[in-house]
Amino acid sequence: MVSVWYLLGAITTGAKPLNETVCRGAFLLYIFFINLASAHHLLVDPGVSAGWKMWNTSYAMYLAVLASMIHGFTVPASVEVAMREKGYVSGLFGWLTSAPWRNPGFSAFILSLVIFGFGGGITGVTLGTTQINIIAHNTLRIPGHFHVTVVGGTTLAFMGLAYYVVPLLFQREYLFKPLARLQPYLFGIGITMMAMGMSFAGSMGVARRSWDIAATGSVYGPTAHLFLAMVGIGGVLAFLGLLTFILLTVLTLLFGRSNAGQKMEDWGSPRTLVTGSSHAPSGVVPVGGGAAGLAVAREHPTQGTLVLALVFLGCFAVYYFANWKALADVWPVR
Ligand code: HEM
Repeated sequence: MVSVWYLLGAITTGAKPLNETVCRGAFLLYIFFINLASAHHLLVDPGVSAGWKMWNTSYAMYLAVLASMIHGFTVPASVEVAMREKGYVSGLFGWLTSAPWRNPGFSAFILSLVIFGFGGGITGVTLGTTQINIIAHNTLRIPGHFHVTVVGGTTLAFMGLAYYVVPLLFQREYLFKPLARLQPYLFGIGITMMAMGMSFAGSMGVARRSWDIAATGSVYGPTAHLFLAMVGIGGVLAFLGLLTFILLTVLTLLFGRSNAGQKMEDWGSPRTLVTGSSHAPSGVVPVGGGAAGLAVAREHPTQGTLVLALVFLGCFAVYYFANWKALADVWPVR
């Protein structure tokens, strides 16, 4: 999935890794530590000691998390640098608002990155903490976490990749392109709603893998049912997004217009607006912020991503410590 982010960032906006050594180092961290981190699947297993669980999930796992945080910063930052180089220099987020949002390769990639990083990262580190896990084990919070990682993250990234791989490998242009442009949003928004509903309903004690999700005649209050409704609505939207993707791709493989011997049609890439950059065609002018904006952008080329990273860290801290508080509430001190 992370490799797909780098690829789609490069194809859709011309982004290049900010620093190849750091990015490769982050992949190395995955290789060394992601296997140890799988201990987070054994957090209530009586066969392994508490010390073993804490070492693997509270120390080794953070080195795999560090790798994700490096990629989670360098990938959008590389898009920011590429967009600013093209002349989209206005303000903190001009590069983001001018990005090719109608290109399903780009929207799927960015949604995947945000859903995986924000939703999956914050819930994952929290649930992976040995002590906190005991109040979340076997509740809907667990599928709430992995549907923002493997589904909103990985599945969506590979859907975005398909919008390039299918026309290139099978030499057929996608049918119903306006629908393809909408598809990543439908799937991404649906799965985010579903996973958030699961996470919050699970926080109120709703069990996972239960034949009777509403726990007939018992414990869950009206708020839990509200979040279960969110699971239902989000699940329907996500399923429609999934169905749209499958139908579009299968119909394209069967009936799509052949592009053999030609370049595949562009889904939409940002134009280069500045003179003087390595991509600039002659005669184009700087926009939003002009030459001064361009100079600031060159000096601080990743300022927008930095602000987003700080927002992420703030949300993470609030969620993490709220969970320690919830754990403390389980043992009232008299
Ligand atoms: C439209 C898309 C999807 C919807 C609406 C959906 C919905 C659900 C629901 C309602 C559950 C059961 C929750 C529970 O009571 O424990 C579930 C479980 C699960 N889902 Fe999904 N899901 C979707 C896509 C996916 C995808 C693409 C993957 C894998 C990449 C996936 C992996 C899983 C796994 C591993 C489980 C847990 C099964 C178990 O507890 O044994 N889901 N999903």
